[in-house]
Amino acid sequence: MRQVRIGIVGCGAAAAHHAVACRSISDKVKLVVAYDANEKRAKRLAKTHGMETCDTYQSLLARDDLDAVLICLPHYLHSEVTISACEAGKHVLCEKPMAPTLEECDAMIKSAKKAGVKFMIAENHRFLPAHVVVHDYVSKGAIGSVLLARAYEGVSEIPDLSKADHWKGSPKLAGGGVLMDAGVHRFSVLRWLLGEVESAYCWLAKQVIKLENKAEDNAMVFLKFENGAIAEVVVSFTVISPPTNRLELYGTEGTILEDHTWENPVQIFSTSKDMGDKRNQWYSPKVEHQPFPGYYPISFRYEDEHFVDCIINDREPEYTPEMAKGSVATVLMCYLSAKTGKIVKRKDLEEIASTKGTHSIIEGLEKISI
Ligand SMILES: NC(=O)c1ccc[n+]([C@@H]2O[C@H](COP(=O)([O-])OP(=O)(O)OC[C@H]3O[C@@H](n4cnc5c(N)ncnc54)[C@H](O)[C@@H]3O)[C@@H](O)[C@H]2O)c1
Repeated sequence: MRQVRIGIVGCGAAAAHHAVACRSISDKVKLVVAYDANEKRAKRLAKTHGMETCDTYQSLLARDDLDAVLICLPHYLHSEVTISACEAGKHVLCEKPMAPTLEECDAMIKSAKKAGVKFMIAENHRFLPAHVVVHDYVSKGAIGSVLLARAYEGVSEIPDLSKADHWKGSPKLAGGGVLMDAGVHRFSVLRWLLGEVESAYCWLAKQVIKLENKAEDNAMVFLKFENGAIAEVVVSFTVISPPTNRLELYGTEGTILEDHTWENPVQIFSTSKDMGDKRNQWYSPKVEHQPFPGYYPISFRYEDEHFVDCIINDREPEYTPEMAKGSVATVLMCYLSAKTGKIVKRKDLEEIASTKGTHSIIEGLEKISI
């Protein structure tokens, strides 16, 4: 089996997680070169992981000793660098969210298709074993039809958000606040489990960081799915306790609870006969998991391994760019709802996309708070 040779663009927090993950699958991956506008960061990552550095992302993309590029940049740069990488014939793994607007997402998809390269958005929640197990049980009908869901992600981004010139939380550089950043994680999992979103209602709040150029630090969302299920999603940038994620699914034949802070993160109560002696009681399947920070390296390893396996075996990634675009679309429906105070349907978003463009939804988000 050959090694996939990777270059990293953007050498901050996400890049460090990926580098560790790639080193743990070194039979399949070779980290070659790193670039960051901040030279010190590039040098630090390169030194830790035995990589070279270079002066521009264009010079990185021009190298012929690279198969793929890992993009770990602020959100406003995702489309530009992805498109350049595709044009240079490199496979692309780009961090979430795909891009802040649907037009950018479309351009990225078009560019990857034209170049015939593998293109995946790095949505680690789709590869976390706890989520994969939940998806397996839901798919095989262990809790019947899911009627209700609740999803939560809470982290503290207060230090970076508090800096006016930091990209986090800036509509211009990040495409919004916590919903564009963490909301896409939750939406990608819910849409995987429940299908397409029909309508959204959303509150955005600026509760801790009141800087003029920053958008919401907390958000609360209500979704209705095309299959009739409804969901509540809460995401926070201002939680003081350690980061975690939580998911609750209530179906016609049972309940699934998932919490990243638990050693055994998944609990299932099912009335289904298929559960055998696990029926009608709380049951916790064996899942590879560790509470914060342990779940990061686990999910990044599965994610990165899937991407390189797709290159090695010439397969398309399970998490398609269209799925990633769908999660951005859900965020934009929520932002439109917060701006208008109304329930937003998919056709409302489509109308904006075909008239003013979806960048108009992001503009002025820093002024929105309940
Ligand atoms: N999946 C996850 O759990 C997870 C976790 C953290 C971040 N992320 C995502 O990863 C991406 C990066 O986030 P981060 O937390 O690593 O951010 P970060 O701020 O820690 O790192 C971003 C890096 O990009 C560099 N940079 C900025 N502008 C640049 C430019 N024009 N050219 C080259 N380098 C430039 C910065 O110097 C910085 O080192 C984002 O898309 C974020 O949403 C995902």
